[in-house]
Amino acid sequence: MTTIPASVEMLAIDGGSPVRDTLLPYGRQSVDEADIQAVVEVLRSNWLTTGPKVGEFEDEFAAYVGSAHAVSFSSGTAALHGAAFTAGLKPGDEAITTPLTFAATANCILYQGATPVFADVSSDTLNIDPAQVEKKITPRTRAIIPVDYAGHPADLDSVMGSARKHDLIVIEDACHALGAEYKGSRVGSIADMTVFSFHPVKHVTTGEGGMVTTNNPEFAETLRRFRSHGISSDARQRQSAGQWHYEMVLLGFNYRLTDIVCALGIEQLKKLESNLTRRRQIAAMYDAAFHHLPGIVPPVVKSEVNPAWHLYPVRLDLEKLSAHRGQIFRALRAENIGVNVHYIPVHLHPYYRDRFGYRGGEFPLAEAAYARLISLPMFHSMSDNDVGDVIHAVRKVLANYYQENAGNR
Ligand SMILES: Cc1ncc(COP(=O)(O)O)c(C=O)c1O
Repeated sequence: MTTIPASVEMLAIDGGSPVRDTLLPYGRQSVDEADIQAVVEVLRSNWLTTGPKVGEFEDEFAAYVGSAHAVSFSSGTAALHGAAFTAGLKPGDEAITTPLTFAATANCILYQGATPVFADVSSDTLNIDPAQVEKKITPRTRAIIPVDYAGHPADLDSVMGSARKHDLIVIEDACHALGAEYKGSRVGSIADMTVFSFHPVKHVTTGEGGMVTTNNPEFAETLRRFRSHGISSDARQRQSAGQWHYEMVLLGFNYRLTDIVCALGIEQLKKLESNLTRRRQIAAMYDAAFHHLPGIVPPVVKSEVNPAWHLYPVRLDLEKLSAHRGQIFRALRAENIGVNVHYIPVHLHPYYRDRFGYRGGEFPLAEAAYARLISLPMFHSMSDNDVGDVIHAVRKVLANYYQENAGNR
């Protein structure tokens, strides 16, 4: 076991020198010259939106994850809305999801006028606990929305098993998990619908953007209509068919992704495998450094998955520390390490408290995890030196707050 030296470095928050001179963010995009050229080419072309690049991006995305269809959306949130609509969620229905996620996961249920029902997480992976899901199923349940927290796939066999047993639709929120594998299959090929995000901190970016993958052709058709006003054909199809006629068949939105950013997405996809490799290397470096470090618990990885490492969330072993998460967070920020917290449990947000009467205490495992979680920087362009700075800063801060050393401060 690593021992913490009795003499500890003075923290930047206490007036010592920070580990870094400039802030290392917790996540950021990488955009290279080929990305820029691809966007510029589209700007010089005839189609700025819903042209050839949209279909090309979707086809390549579907081929990568191993799904029959991929339908692009203007954001991961819009993609979740599309999936919730396509699952048929409506007022009176319930959909079960995890409280430990970004609010958008649960909000898509509300967009459809349905009711979000939370099921607590498993204490190891912090993904939704299938046993809790089973307990929450009622005759009104229509869908289950697991989240692949931090890029670690949820227990998909169990969730899909419950769904098949009760005739429910599974919408997997894989906004963290592009490129992750579950029992040898890529996320995106397993659930009824799987949702991805291309926000800049994700594995590939289009600025804003999202995708739904599915093997169900009817779902794919509904998703396409929903993202384009509920209209049965798009402008390019009508132009090539020499027709003006179209029909609006359902109440949709304008949730389309432009050709400009789909060109960026196509280029970014070419770098996905190397981005994933780098994220896995960084996770391995963190694991090795933190495995036996007192005061911190690295993320748990199940043997049946290969995570995509969108985040590297550690849990503080607060019983061994003389400080709370907030203090440790501030100390790491003072060292110029851009830590973050994922997530404030959704039911604790004022909107959910006011609307549904949550008071805290309803989901003890998610809430206990939240009090301890800190996400360390994780993005594919981090250098080994950056990783070393994070490890140095974590060791430095924990050494100062480790109970046995606390008297040295
Ligand atoms: C788990 C999860 N679901 C949904 C979203 C929404 O994606 P977007 O920001 O692309 O709308 C995010 C965004 O970060 C997310 O982390």
